[in-house]
This record gives sequence, structure tokens and C-alpha cells, in this order.
Amino acid sequence: MAREYPPFIWHNGKIKPWAEATTHVMAHAVHYGSSVFEGIRSYTTPKGQAIFRLSDHLKRLFHSAKIYDLPMPFAQDELARASRDVISANKLPKAYLRPVAFRGLGGFGLSAECPTDVAVAAWDMGPYLGPGVIEQGIDACVSSWQRFAPNTIPAGAKAGGNYLSGQLIAREARRLGFGEGIALASTGLLSEGAGENLFMVFDGALHTTPVSAALLNGITRNSLMTLARDAGIEVVERDIPREYLYLCDELFMCGTAAEITPIRSVDGKPVGAGKPGPVTAKMQKLFFGLFDGSTPDTRGWLEYV
Ligand SMILES: Cc1ncc(COP(=O)(O)O)c(C=O)c1O
Repeated sequence: MAREYPPFIWHNGKIKPWAEATTHVMAHAVHYGSSVFEGIRSYTTPKGQAIFRLSDHLKRLFHSAKIYDLPMPFAQDELARASRDVISANKLPKAYLRPVAFRGLGGFGLSAECPTDVAVAAWDMGPYLGPGVIEQGIDACVSSWQRFAPNTIPAGAKAGGNYLSGQLIAREARRLGFGEGIALASTGLLSEGAGENLFMVFDGALHTTPVSAALLNGITRNSLMTLARDAGIEVVERDIPREYLYLCDELFMCGTAAEITPIRSVDGKPVGAGKPGPVTAKMQKLFFGLFDGSTPDTRGWLEYV
């Protein structure tokens, strides 16, 4: 099936037709994974379209670039402008935004100096893990692939190369008929999903794995921890062994793409009652409430287009 792409993209300083945003096959990033990127969603709200935590996402993009010594030719506020402009150019009422910066065509050695190319794409994206999953949940499995050890590849950078790990985990899960894969860290303890953070519910409290477990410090994860604490729900960040996936009352994944996706079963064992539970539903209500106005935006997370 032919894919449809949006008409415009922002590339190296200007909005241009999608088909013109090309790069050379010998660009450094094509060979070595040397890109950093973000995934950001905008939502329609009663006060107009808002980009969720745009500044925090762009801050993380610059942090990822700092880790890899990737010079950024545009300032954060220029990329914030670009994000708004690409939504407007494509006339999108809501969007998934993909800013990316990468080492372009330059030298061919690993430490070669290369110009940094920057783009911001925007398109309309439904639920990442498939239609209906936000309501019905998914069946997940623990991957046979572990996350990288913390002294090998920094999980705190959202860099293209990290997603080789995510591809192994996600593709294995799909091949085996699961909705998503969950990875263990090199310690043997739980890390996160292929492209999502994890939350478990025990006796009404939310438990999530710590950043030391080779995971991306998710902005959705941080938002949910904040919303839960504001609502009086206890939040515990701790190392969690695998078997607690089977023993928790509820389990869900979260991320910009996956939003809040309940997990009904892991490795064929039902989680709790085998369907999305009440704490998951409450977190969905609080999170999606930010966009319909039922959850007050007390921290300025909605950045209007
Ligand atoms: C590996 C990984 N973990 C977690 C997340 C969730 O992060 P965020 O909530 O900032 O989108 C993502 C998505 O970006 C991810 O790719």
C-alpha cells in the first residue's frame, strides 16, 4: 500500500516540499546511527492546538546532542518556531512532530567532522501500538534481547543508534504475535518497553523502573508521576525484577507515541484481571484530561501553536 506523506517539512531553516528534504547516502548518520531526535505530540484543546511539553522535548534533544558532541546549528527557540510552522504549513489539527538532527555528509571516519542537518517533520499519527489499544490494552512479552549496559551506550540520549535495540525488541515481539516487547536491563532487572516506559500498580500505588535501568527518561513518564502525585497517588521509582510483571495488579506502558497503553498480559499470563484496571483508567483520565480541559494545566505544559 502506498504511503501518503504530508506536503511540507522543515529542513535546515526552511519549510520545503516533503520530497525535497533529501540527504546523501554517504551521510555519517546513515552508516553510524549518529542522529538525535524527539517525538512530540500536539493535541486539539478547547483553547486551540497545543504542543505537549514542546520546550522539555527540545531541551532533551539538545541534551542528546551534547552527549554525542553534535553541534546544533539552530537554537532551541528556532526549533520551537519550526515545530509550529511545520504544523501550520501542513494544516494539521493535531500532529506527531519529529525533530531530528544528524551528522550529514562530511568525512567518513567515526570521529569525522560533518555538518549537522536538522529537520522537523509533522504528520497525523493515531495510537502507536494499533487501533483500539488505548481502550483495550495489548498483550506483551519479555524480550530475549536485553537493553545495553549503562557504560556502553547512554540510554539517557534519544539517539538513532539506540533504536537498533528497540527494533530487535519490537520486531521479535511482533514476530511472536505480541503487541509489544519489554526489555530487561543488563542487570537482569526490568528496563522498559521497546519505545515506552513502564508503570505497574501495586495496592493502588504506581511503581516505575528508575533511569539507572537503561531507559529513556520519558517526558510522559515524568508527566504521569507528577499528575499522580498531584492526585494523591503514591509513586515509587525502584528496581523491579521480571516476575513482578506477572504479580502486579495493573500494568501499562507510556510514551509520547504510545500515550497510555494498558497491558492485559505478559508472556501469556494475565495481568491482574486481564483487562485495563481502575488506576490505569484514572491515569488516562488525568492525562487526556489535559487536552479536553478537565485536568488543569498548572505547569504550562500546553504550548499553543
Ligand atoms: C525507548 C523509549 N523509552 C521511553 C519513551 C517515552 O518517552 P517520552 O514519554 O518522552 O516520549 C520513548 C519514546 O520516546 C522511547 O523511545
